[in-house]
Amino acid sequence: MQTDFLVIGSGIAGLTFALKAAQQFPDKKVLIVTKTQADETNTKYAQGGIAGVTDFEKDSFDKHIEDTLIAGDGLCNKAVVEIVVKEGVDRIREIIEWGARFDKEADGDYKLGKEGGHSEFRILHHKDVTGREMERALLDALNTYKNIEIIKHCFVVDLITQHHLGFLVTKSTPDIECYGVYVLNRETNQIEKILANITLLATGGNGQVYRSTTNPYIATGDGVAMVYRAKGRIENMEFIQFHPTALYEPGVRGQSFLITEAVRGDGGILRNKNGEAFMERYDSRKDLAPRDIVARAIDSEMKITGTEHVYLDVRHIPLEKFTEHFPNIYDKCRSIGIDVTKHLIPVAPAAHYSCGGIKTDEWGRTSINNLYAAGECASTGLHGANRLASNSLLEAMVFSHRSFMDATQKIQTRSLSPVTPTIPDWNATGTTQPKEMILITQSLKEVQQIMSDYVGIVRTNTRLARALKRLDLLWEETESLYQTTTLSPQLCELRNMITTSYLIVKCANFREESRGLHFNTDYPQKSELVQNIVL
Ligand code: FAD
Ligand code: SIN
Repeated sequence: MQTDFLVIGSGIAGLTFALKAAQQFPDKKVLIVTKTQADETNTKYAQGGIAGVTDFEKDSFDKHIEDTLIAGDGLCNKAVVEIVVKEGVDRIREIIEWGARFDKEADGDYKLGKEGGHSEFRILHHKDVTGREMERALLDALNTYKNIEIIKHCFVVDLITQHHLGFLVTKSTPDIECYGVYVLNRETNQIEKILANITLLATGGNGQVYRSTTNPYIATGDGVAMVYRAKGRIENMEFIQFHPTALYEPGVRGQSFLITEAVRGDGGILRNKNGEAFMERYDSRKDLAPRDIVARAIDSEMKITGTEHVYLDVRHIPLEKFTEHFPNIYDKCRSIGIDVTKHLIPVAPAAHYSCGGIKTDEWGRTSINNLYAAGECASTGLHGANRLASNSLLEAMVFSHRSFMDATQKIQTRSLSPVTPTIPDWNATGTTQPKEMILITQSLKEVQQIMSDYVGIVRTNTRLARALKRLDLLWEETESLYQTTTLSPQLCELRNMITTSYLIVKCANFREESRGLHFNTDYPQKSELVQNIVL
């Protein structure tokens, strides 16, 4: 298969880019591949909303920039923060034109929410299901373009570079080129190749490497792992954001239900097992301090009181107000016997967002030619050491737009490289069907256990060293399976999760300080050397 634009991922980043490319180039083909259903993405689960300055009387670009820089704890790229905050407003306008509906007051002004680290009310939302609404609008808009094709249940295995033509490619090889990808097409169960002029990675996050996460099953760090294997640059993987308030449901594995931070924005109060509103002991901003501070405070309270969760108290919020803003949360709580007017909601931190990822420049360009990255898989410099709440949907749209702008110039001058016909087919000779799925499923649980127990909210040198040793063993065993068995999405995901976990631990090891989301008790202070870790 050949295409002009290849988009990997159907969340907000992938769909934004695809729509723009299809609109601008009606005679060119835009192909989206996605590994499960089109809407099964982190995007669909976004609750709180999208941050953006729309009320210029009370708010300003400067305030949003300042809040982002404070949350980022010294590591944001200020130029990128300015770009995202200022250009974000146009991108929000665009998605509204594509059909996304955000809640409004009776007078027609947008209803604005507030979350941790924001000095003003500036979060546009659609009740507590903002991502679902944005994903719906983008998928609906997509249907109007005949030059967009979307292939579902199509798993991208690897990027194709000079390596596949028999050349030695290392981290110091200049001009690594991306010619397209190998995919596992689940309809044919064959590994096929897709060649492309321009490829965008929009593969989302990696929360699934932890036992408890707000992310759906698709979030296994595939894009980051692929770029690392292709010898591209990866940055700041140690900054994993734990959301303070995932619903605590004993026995539930996989994806935890989120209780949006907007609930605390509307007055929700965190309490420990003794009923104490403990946040005032940790930060003057109390329940609306940035997420790293709140998550660490909860972790500390859980350890002090010996419990697996704390509580969120919303009993004082009038029911009508609560159900109007948070109908989804209200229904979920009710479905498990929690009456939010009478009961406290049990919550605990869960892995939520990857601030680092594939290193890009201000135009979404990765270190590999013709390969862009946008959305959660990318490290653009916006988030630094900690992402400000509701800045990621904004970043995804801004960088998809910028990648598209840059790719536009390239596509007009570029046709498929002459070497592409010689790219070999996937070689599966000598591989056999896996005999025991347990070898994969058990290793996956082990990865999640290692990462949760040793590389969580609080880290130590000993825990990181242990994690690395255990991951090494899993890597060896999984590589041997990969070489000898027929590929399955489960095996490829396991392999990607091990690589992603390795990158998180490696970056954590290199950072000999505590900053933002990375807290190592062996180096409790910030270092004077302010630097990104690039692998
Ligand atoms: P995603 O939306 O995750 O899409 C990734 C796509 O890549 C999927 O289609 C997936 O199938 C595909 N893919 C991955 N690997 C492969 C592969 N190997 N082959 C083929 N396809 C592949 N952010 C905010 O700004 N505001 C919020 O209110 C907010 N709330 C959140 C609530 C929850 C519960 C979660 C989990 C996240 C929230 N976030 C929020 C974060 C935000 O939703 C995500 O960062 C953002 O949606 C990521 O978009 P994306 O397009 O980069 O990736
Ligand atoms: C939330 O709604 O609390 C999540 C917001 C975000 O992750 O940006």
